[in-house]
Amino acid sequence: MHFKGKVIWITGASSGIGKELVYQLAKLEAIIIMTSRNRAELELIQKDLQVQGVTSHILAYDLMNIEAIPQLVEQAISLEGKIDAVIQCAGISQRSLGVETDFSVYQKLMQLNYFAPVAISQAILPHFKKNDSGNLVVISSIAGLMGFPLRSGYAASKHAIKGYLETLQTELYDSKVNLTLVFPGRIDTAISKNALTGTGVQAGVEDANNKVGMSVQLCVLQIIQGLKANKKTIYIGKPERLLLWIWWFFPNLYLKIAHKTGLKR
Ligand SMILES: NC(=O)c1ccc[n+]([C@@H]2O[C@H](COP(=O)([O-])OP(=O)(O)OC[C@H]3O[C@@H](n4cnc5c(N)ncnc54)[C@H](OP(=O)(O)O)[C@@H]3O)[C@@H](O)[C@H]2O)c1
Repeated sequence: MHFKGKVIWITGASSGIGKELVYQLAKLEAIIIMTSRNRAELELIQKDLQVQGVTSHILAYDLMNIEAIPQLVEQAISLEGKIDAVIQCAGISQRSLGVETDFSVYQKLMQLNYFAPVAISQAILPHFKKNDSGNLVVISSIAGLMGFPLRSGYAASKHAIKGYLETLQTELYDSKVNLTLVFPGRIDTAISKNALTGTGVQAGVEDANNKVGMSVQLCVLQIIQGLKANKKTIYIGKPERLLLWIWWFFPNLYLKIAHKTGLKR
């Protein structure tokens, strides 16, 4: 995938991985559409992009509002008359024991991390098929490949989106529409601070685990390298890949390690 002159819609553009994608893709001369709830933050980013001479649009939206997503997608397409790629970064994590988590928290996690990206994908894919090109990218997580303490609902939502997109990859194998799943490990962003607790309030504190994660700049560089190489799956983070390997080959050992390390905050 090339980025120069391409119209790229990024959800979760106000913070972390999505925000860094905006800046790195702007440097590669893409035209950017940004979505998240925080319009003020998106406007600050847009000012930076204007200084760089980059065209960008703001579509502030709360993706919990699933019903109106088809209209949102129409609006996004109408901004430049087309969309070449959608990178779905908007997401929320969890920090609570499964048994202490309200059912409503599971619903919220599924709504934002699974149903919203499915709704966007379902609405954008006909546009891509009509144009006989397009890139659909979804950020899952290493927790979309294996369970990890304090993330029962988050891991479930990230497994769910993996199942959805992988199935579409099999169905659209011979089409010109590219589908990519990204599995980051720990990345140093505000994700743990913004995570939901068992009652659904924001955790408000950063995990020691996330602080030692990969820098968001390096993470995004690796995502962009993977997209340039038309990768179907992009795994980010060496220690997490090692854990994944342990999970595949020595599941009991993995459970022991995850139990020992994952319950600490
Ligand atoms: N950081 C990690 O360690 C890590 C690891 C694996 C996977 N991931 C995944 O990577 C993605 C980006 O996470 P991040 O680390 O960049 O976290 P982040 O800094 O907390 O960013 C999350 C983004 O999602 C947006 N968002 C949250 N709720 C929303 C809603 N209801 N409607 C629209 N947008 C909403 C936020 O914008 P507003 O608040 O402005 O709405 C923000 O832009 C997520 O899907 C996450 O699960 C992260």
